[in-house]
Amino acid sequence: MQSLVQIVLIGAPGSGKGTQARLLSQQYGIPQISTGELLRQAVQSRLPLGLEAQAVMDQGLLVSDTIVMGIIRDRLVQPDARSGFLLDGFPRNLEQAQALEKLLETLDRPLTVAILFQMDSEYLIQRLSGRLTCPQCGAVYNRYTSPPRFDDQCDNCGTLLRHRSDDNEETIINRLRVYEAQTEPLIGFYRSRGLLAEINADGPIPTIFRQIRRVINEHRQRRAPLRPRKGKVPARQSKSPAAARTARRVSTTSAKKKSKPRNLPPAKKRSGKAKKTRSR
Ligand code: AP5
Repeated sequence: MQSLVQIVLIGAPGSGKGTQARLLSQQYGIPQISTGELLRQAVQSRLPLGLEAQAVMDQGLLVSDTIVMGIIRDRLVQPDARSGFLLDGFPRNLEQAQALEKLLETLDRPLTVAILFQMDSEYLIQRLSGRLTCPQCGAVYNRYTSPPRFDDQCDNCGTLLRHRSDDNEETIINRLRVYEAQTEPLIGFYRSRGLLAEINADGPIPTIFRQIRRVINEHRQRRAPLRPRKGKVPARQSKSPAAARTARRVSTTSAKKKSKPRNLPPAKKRSGKAKKTRSR
């Protein structure tokens, strides 16, 4: 039995989160939940929260945690998110990450993995300034790397493509600064929980997609619930807590005994060469 796919995508603006999220959403049949996209929809629909968010987004700053957490809480309980979810561009600071952790605990929906898109920032400005998006079907193109077949027209639906208003150089630089200051600390947050996986986001889209799928499958297997063999209770469960504590003590002691080096000279006298050989 495999666990649900419940993923967070972290990466600088333009690192390709949205592009990969769309492919992953099709692959695993789970919704792509992009807080940026949900906020842009709120702006377009002239919702009060959209109007509040627009000024902040135009400057490349983060919209308030209260607004964003409200959006996420409502979205994660929608029926299509029951089979898993892909969070694209959320969380974006430690407060959001902690709030998400609590929310997922309450819902009993542990995260599978947080995937970090690693990329040199010098290419990000070019990627963003060349981006074109389809307001109808959400397809994403790039003037330089993946242009549409016909000038500024979506290949899928023929709609006129748009350039995002925050994809201008001044706002992009602000977004990159905000990423470094507020989002990068999430790397340590998820690493300390054993949930971080880093991928190289600089390369052909299908190669990156394969890397991500590999990472997801590895982490899914780690999270997969153990299935007891028919008619037998797994050894771990059959131990009482006291017996388990004793077993742990014994195994730690014997591990210590085993790892005690035999016939080695005292540490001070060991040469650097010997150390290197041992560390391999
Ligand atoms: P958001 O919409 O999330 O923007 P972002 O994080 O800045 O990310 P982008 O959508 O710009 O980039 P991406 O990584 O998805 O790249 P893409 O795949 O499109 O947020 C916008 C704003 O909303 C924020 O600034 C903030 O104000 C607000 N906001 C959102 N979430 C928030 C939150 N949680 N809290 C507070 N505020 C929030 O690719 C970019 C381009 O590169 C495309 O043209 C694509 O075709 C191309 N490309 C992609 N992959 C490759 C590749 N491998 N090779 C070559 N080209 C590629």
